[in-house]
This record gives sequence, C-alpha cells and structure tokens, in this order.
Amino acid sequence: MNRKSITISYSEYNSNNELPAKDKELLDVAIEATKNSYAPYSRFNVGAAVRLANGEIISASNQENAAYPSGLCAERVAIFYANSRFPDVKVEALAVTAAVNGNICDNPTYPCGACRQVLAETEQRSGNKIRIIIGGEKITQVIDSVEGLLPFVFDNLPK
Ligand code: THU
Repeated sequence: MNRKSITISYSEYNSNNELPAKDKELLDVAIEATKNSYAPYSRFNVGAAVRLANGEIISASNQENAAYPSGLCAERVAIFYANSRFPDVKVEALAVTAAVNGNICDNPTYPCGACRQVLAETEQRSGNKIRIIIGGEKITQVIDSVEGLLPFVFDNLPK
C-alpha cells in the first residue's frame, strides 16, 4: 500500500484591484452578469464569464425553473454556449461570482460538481489548461487549471 497526496496551489487576492488585468476584466463581466440571473427560487444570483482564444468574452448567469432540475448553473450556461457557438476555439479562462440582494458575496462561490465535470471535459477537449477565477467581494481565488478543482475526474469511458 502506498499513501499518496495531491497538492493544489492557487492564488488568493484580498482585493480584486490586485488581480492581473485580464482576470479583473473577466471577473467584472461575471459580476455584471449576476444582474441577468433568473433565480426566483434560490435568490442566489450567479454570474460567469468565459474568455476564448479568439478574444470573445461570453457572459452568462444561472437560470432556474419551477421544475427545479431544469435550471442550469451560470458556469454551464457559459461553457455550453461558448462550445456551441465556437466549437473549435479554445476556452482560456472562466470567472464566476455570486450576488445576494444585489451584493456580491464576500467569499468565493465555487463551481458545483456537475460544472466541474463539464469544465474538466472542456479542458481535455481544448487541450489547454483553463484558468478559473472564483471571485468574491473580499476574497478572490485563481486556480491555473480545472484539475485543481476536480483532481479525480471521471474520464474513463472506453475510447
Ligand atoms: N449555482 C450556479 O449557478 N453556480 C454555482 O457554482 C453554484 C450554484 C446556481 C444554481 C442555482 O440556480 C443557485 O445557484 C442555487 O444553487
């Protein structure tokens, strides 16, 4: 038996003004996108923004439905839209943030498990790491790759 370990490193910022300019720009788009969230059930307004290698920035928000499972998280709305409009363009980065009553949450809102799985497959498909910016009003974290969010990814289907 071998005990093994995985180390995840990330950058943490205590002010969004300290973020690299491109990360700040993407996070600002995600912050703006929280205003388009349709979340009458959870009242949790999530915004996401994706930067593509062709310079496109796509923004999205969570969209809920009275038949609860029919809703979709902001991250998957953004990624699926990006992949459907630009299937051959690499996804470089995704920013996500959330607001309650119009106020951006202090702490990072991490992508849920299902979004991580979709992000992981997008990363594999593009063949490059996707930078993940998880923004809060007081704390923002930046992870270099989806692998840091989902180390033991399911990717075992027969080829
Ligand atoms: N949600 C997202 O859009 N992204 C996340 O990372 C976490 C959760 C949405 C789903 C649902 O509309 C609401 O937030 C509450 O779970």
